Amino acid sequence: MKIGVLFVCLGNICRSPMAEAIFRNLVESQGKSEQFDIDSAGTGDWHIGDGPHQGTVQKLAEYHIATEGMLSRQIKQEDYDRFDYIVCMDNSNIQNALPMLGIKESSKVFRLLDLIQDSRDVPDPYFTGDFEETYQLCLEGCKALLQKIEADKRSHS
Ligand code: 4NP
Repeated sequence: MKIGVLFVCLGNICRSPMAEAIFRNLVESQGKSEQFDIDSAGTGDWHIGDGPHQGTVQKLAEYHIATEGMLSRQIKQEDYDRFDYIVCMDNSNIQNALPMLGIKESSKVFRLLDLIQDSRDVPDPYFTGDFEETYQLCLEGCKALLQKIEADKRSHS
């Protein structure tokens, strides 16, 4: 059984595709790709079928992380069963995602940067224009997420 990890933001063009690509790269660099089912989705429907924002594509290219083939989609109820970790970029994403997943609350659904010391929302570069800040925070969060998943695995085995 693969470990399912879904990253969630509002538009699925800036933050969650960035986190998805960073997490996929991290897992790949550790030779663990086969163990994971990784995806991202938005709570909004404005960008369905679109590729990631140019700012996200450029920032990831700067760090040699691929974005080919990534397309925006909206979160759906079946995602709740498919994924073990539903990792939201900010608190409003959690509030919007829960009813779309058909649930009231779940420990599966949490905020990426609640895993780091300086617990906070991932700032949205669609509005801030600062893709570097978002990249660094997503990277820190994704490292913490992989550590949490490894710790969860150990405690369940
Ligand atoms: P994201 O950023 O949630 O990080 O993908 C946004 C992208 C698009 C919009 C809002 C946020 N929008 O309103 O179209």
